[in-house]
Amino acid sequence: MESSVITGKTRICALIGDPIEHSVSPAMHNAAFRKLGLDCVYVPFRVEAGKLAQAVDGLRALNILGFNVTIPHKVAIIPMLDGLDQLAEKIGAVNTVVNDGGNFRGYNTDANGFLQALLERGIEPKEKEVVVLGAGGASRAISYILAERNAHLTILNRRLELDWAEELAHRIYHDFEKEVRVLELSSECLAAALGGAEILVNATSVGMSPNSQESPVPAELLRSDLVVFDIVNNPVRTRLLKDAQAAGARTIEGVEMLVWQGALAFEKWTGQKAPFDLMRKETIKALEGYED
Ligand code: ATR
Repeated sequence: MESSVITGKTRICALIGDPIEHSVSPAMHNAAFRKLGLDCVYVPFRVEAGKLAQAVDGLRALNILGFNVTIPHKVAIIPMLDGLDQLAEKIGAVNTVVNDGGNFRGYNTDANGFLQALLERGIEPKEKEVVVLGAGGASRAISYILAERNAHLTILNRRLELDWAEELAHRIYHDFEKEVRVLELSSECLAAALGGAEILVNATSVGMSPNSQESPVPAELLRSDLVVFDIVNNPVRTRLLKDAQAAGARTIEGVEMLVWQGALAFEKWTGQKAPFDLMRKETIKALEGYED
């Protein structure tokens, strides 16, 4: 049954972030609600950094079903929640909140969204040499779940002076007793790191529209025995992925992680299995609408 009529019983899911104008999550989730005939809608709200606490109070008062959290609120929201899933606590970032009988509980579905996208392609990161580019919010979730899965990690970041990468490496060492190599994101370090690598993950924003001609990795360093996962999802096929494909490598698009994190959030809010293929189709359609 398909339903798109708002009734007196309609439950609301939201997205809070800034900016959110180009978010494709409303297209993904509303298509899924319609497909399953659920009396729910998903609405984006632009919430400025200084208004987060007010917004969370408002969502509480409105008895919202659940919501997604995006840049710049993924870390700042933590003290405003009533509880945290263990993985979200370890990563130190929340992208999904569930209203559990009036208690707001935070989760991080970015991490498992990334892992599911890999596993779905038959790629098991356990004991593999994995190079992760970037040490920001996305990299934290990805690196943490990879370490938990027992991958061997090298993290390369542009600005080592910020200590983000070192801090991430220490946290992983503390939790899993796993050494993480931290290097500068330069051509020389990339060449050294990629030498023995099996999986390369771009968790920087390099290559994102409107800079879609840029790639974080010189094409000549890409090889046919690499799996290349680019979390940039706009454009859907980034320059890095095109170069990797030309080198004969297997490629995974960022849209896969985007849809998996959405599907995992959907299942937490509704208790129902997410219609994954439809969500992927609607997400790609919406992303292609934004491409330059
Ligand atoms: P997100 O939540 O999407 O991860 P973020 O926390 O702002 O966003 O992190 C962005 C990542 O992309 C960082 O690792 C950033 O590197 P710095 O720590 O040096 O800023 C990386 N990044 C962004 N632009 C970059 C560029 N032009 N070259 C290399 N790295 C870049």
